[in-house]
Amino acid sequence: MTAVFPSLQQQSDAQTKLVLALPKGRILETCDKVLEKAGIRPEPDLFNESSRKLRFVTNHSELDVVRVRSFDVATFVAFGGAQIGICGSDVLMEFDYPEIYAPLDLDIAKCRISVAEPVATAGMDDPSTWSRVRVATKYPNITKRHYATRGIHADVVHLNGAMEIAPSLGLTRQIVDLVDTGRTLKANGLVETEVIHLISSRLIVNRTALKTRPEEIGNWIARFREALTTP
Ligand code: PRP
Repeated sequence: MTAVFPSLQQQSDAQTKLVLALPKGRILETCDKVLEKAGIRPEPDLFNESSRKLRFVTNHSELDVVRVRSFDVATFVAFGGAQIGICGSDVLMEFDYPEIYAPLDLDIAKCRISVAEPVATAGMDDPSTWSRVRVATKYPNITKRHYATRGIHADVVHLNGAMEIAPSLGLTRQIVDLVDTGRTLKANGLVETEVIHLISSRLIVNRTALKTRPEEIGNWIARFREALTTP
């Protein structure tokens, strides 16, 4: 007879396996070397972004990988759905989850989070005289904090992407977003006016999982630490 529901063995495997959450997109593209150096070989479909699969086995029977949106890596790890993850420091700063411990800077996917505005308005007036400004971003907390330190109230327009077109469509004066090569800003007539934070990707772990499964998780932290010194 064909079992409809997962067998007890499958359910138990799903609970005991460690889950490593990895972000889709640009971080994933740079993850393969550090994973290889840490001795993790996920099934190849992980790196095929057209695959609709979300969970992947690895060469370690006790470790699976899930591929999720970059902002969601922190959420899956904070809520314990994944015990470890690789996550941009931008996301960690934005959410500031107390449940997440970030023991290692993996020194990959380096970029910056910056303020930008149209070339046409940049430098037209002095921002230190502003009391408020409208800003498009997917980082409302980082943005509000940044402007608050300058005594400016940021009216945030929260977008999930394509914020580079917000100024030209009249939504906002400025944007706060990730800048890597600067090509997206340039292509949309914007110029970077201030760097808020330098960003890189971190290994993150769920604090409760670290307490309850210290050997397994400690072992993976050690492997990633060693990977950082492996040429
Ligand atoms: C990021 C960011 C910018 C772009 C910057 O978006 O939001 O749009 O990269 O990169 P560049 O300076 O090299 O042009 P991403 O491509 O990660 O997609 P997203 O909008 O889905 O976050």
